[in-house]
Order: sequence, then structure tokens, then C-alpha cells
Amino acid sequence: MLIVANWKMNCLKADAERLLKQIKQNLAGNNDIVICPPYTMLSLAETSFIGSNIKLGAQDCSLNENGAFTGDISAKMLTDLNVEYVILGHSERRAYHNESNELVKKKAETAIKHNIKPIICIGETLDERKAGKTKDVVLEQINKRLPDSSNYVIAYEPIWAIGTGLTPSLDEIKEIHDFIANKKPNIKILYGGSVNENNCNEIAKVDNVSGFLVGGASLVAEKFNVIAQVSI
Ligand code: PGA
Repeated sequence: MLIVANWKMNCLKADAERLLKQIKQNLAGNNDIVICPPYTMLSLAETSFIGSNIKLGAQDCSLNENGAFTGDISAKMLTDLNVEYVILGHSERRAYHNESNELVKKKAETAIKHNIKPIICIGETLDERKAGKTKDVVLEQINKRLPDSSNYVIAYEPIWAIGTGLTPSLDEIKEIHDFIANKKPNIKILYGGSVNENNCNEIAKVDNVSGFLVGGASLVAEKFNVIAQVSI
């Protein structure tokens, strides 16, 4: 399984140092682990991962290669810090930075060009789910947001499940993961949205769930290390 920690905009240096140390010390199992700290902690995390199998991820990157783009970080800069994954199209970036499907796709293509594997988020809002439109929404995102190359990972994150403590039922997760897998065979599909140390084992057993994208629970080492050890 691929277990990805999304720290979002959390952690000052001392917190990050402590968290990385605790995660590293107690990490067990054979899963692939990726930690995506804020940009400011990438260098610190890179140093801290020396001698471990933990991989480094970022939470976004620019679609541009370099130049006059104040505040942006390029894929090449990430490669320079040994970043291997980048989360793209997270619902928080779509909501607060107006990221479109087309922009996410372009960013993904740039990341792939620089040997960084994008983890591309898709998922419906609560209104869309209530209106019975989940599959239509997800299909449109699949068609418009994913790059042509197959060198990426999908994260299915129902927006209403992110940070709320709510999750779809196991049957609902299976239905959507099967639907995505049918459209995109051979691509890993992570589940994200209120994954925690208590629900990870049962969700991991659902067909076509290849791992997790974990927000809140990834900031607590005791919780994240349980999720990191999940097995099917
Ligand atoms: P959560 O966040 O685990 O806190 O719900 C997941 C995410 O936003 O990737």
C-alpha cells in the first residue's frame, strides 16, 4: 500500500523535527510511505529521511519551469530536493486558489517531465453526492484533470469527508473505487478523507483501494504509524 501524509499548512521547525523523528523511530511494515510537509520543511525532511525508506512529497508545484513567477515553486526545484511525489488538485487548492481541471493537468504534465509522480485528487462535494451526481463529477474530473501519461496516482477524496470525521460507507468507497479503476486500470487509487487509526484497516481491505492520503491523522505520530502499518 502507498500511504501519503499531507501535513497541509502545519508545523514549525521544532514540530516538524519532533514529528519526523517519532515517525521514523516507530515506522514498521512494508508499505511505501510518502510525507508531504510544507515547502519550508522539505529540506529538513530530506535530511531526516537519510537512511530510511520514507519518500518525500510536496503539496503543489508550478506549471511553469522557471522565471518570473513570484511565490511559485517549480518541479525542478522539488527534484533538486529529492522530492518524488507531488499532491496536485487538492480540493483546498481548487477552492482557495481557483485551480481548474486544465491547470491541474498541466501541472501534472510538468511534474512528470521532471520525474515527480503526481498524486491527483478527485472527488465530489456533499451537494453533488446528495444529488446522485458523484459518478458524473468523478468522470468529468478523470477526463479533464488526469494527464495522458500513466505515471501518476489518483486520490479519491470526497470533499465532504475531508477533515470532518465523516467517511463514506465501505460499500460506497468500493463503488467509486471500482468505477475509477474501470476507467483507469493499472493506476493506483488512494482513498482520502478522515482516514484514522481506527478505520484504516477496514478501508484498506476494500477492492481497488491501493493506499491512503492522510491529513489530520498524519500530524500525530502515534496515529500515523498505525495507518502506515496497515495491511490487507
Ligand atoms: P483529512 O484530510 O485526513 O484530515 O480528512 C485528507 C486530505 O485533505 O488530504
